[in-house]
Amino acid sequence: MCGIVGYSGSGSPKQVILEGLKTLEYRGYDSAGVAILDGNHFKRVRAEGKLNILQEKLNQENFSGKIGIGHTRWATHGKPSERNAHPHCVKGISIVHNGIIENYADLREELKASGSEFHSDTDSELVAHLISAEVDLGHCLFESVLKILPKLEGAFSILAVSADQPDEMVAFKNGPPLIIGQANDAIIVASDVQAIIKHTKEVIYLNDFEVAHLKGSDFKLFDREGKVVAKKFVHIDWSPEQVEKQGYPHYMLKEIFEQPRAVASAIDPHIDLNEHKVFLNRLGFGRSVEELDKLDLAQDYQNTVQQLKKVERIFIVACGTSYYAGMVGKYVIEKLSRIPVEVDIASEFRYRDIVIPENSMFITISQSGETADTLAALRMVKAMRVPSLSICNVKRSTIDREADGHMYMNAGAEIGVASTKAFVCTLSLLNLLALSLAKAKETIDEASEQKWVRELLSSPSQMETVLAYDKFFAKASDTLKKYRGFLYMGRGVNYPIALEGALKLKELAYMHAEGYASGEMKHGPLALIDESMCIVMLAPSDDLYEKTVSNLEEAKARGGEVISIGSGENQKLRDVSKHYLSLPNASWFVNPILEVIPLQLLAYHVADALGHDVDQPRNLAKSVTVE
Ligand code: M6R
Repeated sequence: MCGIVGYSGSGSPKQVILEGLKTLEYRGYDSAGVAILDGNHFKRVRAEGKLNILQEKLNQENFSGKIGIGHTRWATHGKPSERNAHPHCVKGISIVHNGIIENYADLREELKASGSEFHSDTDSELVAHLISAEVDLGHCLFESVLKILPKLEGAFSILAVSADQPDEMVAFKNGPPLIIGQANDAIIVASDVQAIIKHTKEVIYLNDFEVAHLKGSDFKLFDREGKVVAKKFVHIDWSPEQVEKQGYPHYMLKEIFEQPRAVASAIDPHIDLNEHKVFLNRLGFGRSVEELDKLDLAQDYQNTVQQLKKVERIFIVACGTSYYAGMVGKYVIEKLSRIPVEVDIASEFRYRDIVIPENSMFITISQSGETADTLAALRMVKAMRVPSLSICNVKRSTIDREADGHMYMNAGAEIGVASTKAFVCTLSLLNLLALSLAKAKETIDEASEQKWVRELLSSPSQMETVLAYDKFFAKASDTLKKYRGFLYMGRGVNYPIALEGALKLKELAYMHAEGYASGEMKHGPLALIDESMCIVMLAPSDDLYEKTVSNLEEAKARGGEVISIGSGENQKLRDVSKHYLSLPNASWFVNPILEVIPLQLLAYHVADALGHDVDQPRNLAKSVTVE
């Protein structure tokens, strides 16, 4: 949720921390701060608002030390303000925290009772108090962290420094990620590799309750008992260019345009290009993520096939956009493999008295791999010994690490808070999974497998053509932004895309938008329609097309303005619509991947025309690591 960066080395902490925080701003952006060594104390500078406000303040500051910590915040306890911004300092101790300390109320009361005075409304500040109390008892910073670790409940990743040991830093976590990179003459600790890869691509992921003790440009890892832990560096293959805007005005637009390439990267490892067959590669059921690169591919494939053969029921669990991808997956998997699929919102699933029959498979979908509810649902079913498969973008994220099998979106870094390329990559992976399940269950023959694989292989170039609607929406946005609301409609596999289109407009343009199964219109929502309502109808050529057109006529008769999206040239749709957008001819298998692109562009341009911050919409964060 929040972003944290720590630096210790021979360079300028101020510069490295600020650059690092910039790459993490998507995680939270309501306030920011740093504490950097200056002489024999840590000088703290904080600011409410986005990082550039802190940056302006820091322009006037100089620091003589070579160590510091920084934070960009997404408020959970205490409103966004300078007073609540991190770092929190108590006597010589400064800390930055990402996550939530669940037992903060009890701990705060205890600390207050023993004389501690609080200067913020956050749950985080008490960590500085707890460490400071241990230091007062004569413990060093590292020992103090080991002492307080058992007292903390909840999700946290924390960096701590002490003015008494000015060349040291301690990093520890339970839940949210914390990564350590070691460059030639420096150590960088951050909540995401993006803050590190400019300096080094060799990193270590801290596990829960591991404690990193950094000294100068070196460090050691310990478990919660203080025993040394040996760990190997992992190589990260993201280039720094991948996290820059590359000339686009916003990350989101860049990411929309990257979608064809992203889908190609997602499907590439799983397709035999000679035979046009699907070959789910490196799912590594039952193997740790560290072992995936070393798998015997043929053996692993046989293992995957055996796993899929056993499956009699599937549960897909996710949140937000990932949930809508899961809904598309349900239609595709059921149609091709005849395996019943249930799709659930993670926050509902985890608190439902869920019944999971034998031979079920549990699938999580998460771009970040850190979403708290999705992770909790995964842990719940793991405890029930249900085999799990994660579809994830961030390799070695918590969900990826904890699932039994692994599929990767390969979308590259997604910085815009609104998910775009991760969504289409997930759809393409679900298509491949559906084909693999169908093969395992022998519900499709070789010829149809090849037909579907060829369709999927054509989708990246078809997506390129759909991206041309960027110009249309850039122009139309001034009119579109004036509508009172938007109704997105579709049937079958297009219905979840209607939901996704509405979510995009809500989160970016802050406008009223709803997605509906078009067959539901006459059961209530038709009453909403008049000329101030824009209807976005997904009507590609599939076996529900005729019914969709009837629903469109009904809406049109009530005065709604219609944007229709269909396959190829279609005079009928053109006649009943204010705007008709034609997609390349494709089948129900690939249409969702194509038709979501105009909806993303619509939301992007309307939000931009309204003057909103498209990459960082209000009240949201990219990675939702708390409930
Ligand atoms: O990282 P995840 O895929 O688990 O995130 C789930 C949702 O928080 C996410 O899809 C959210 O709905 C996006 N902001 C939508 O654009």
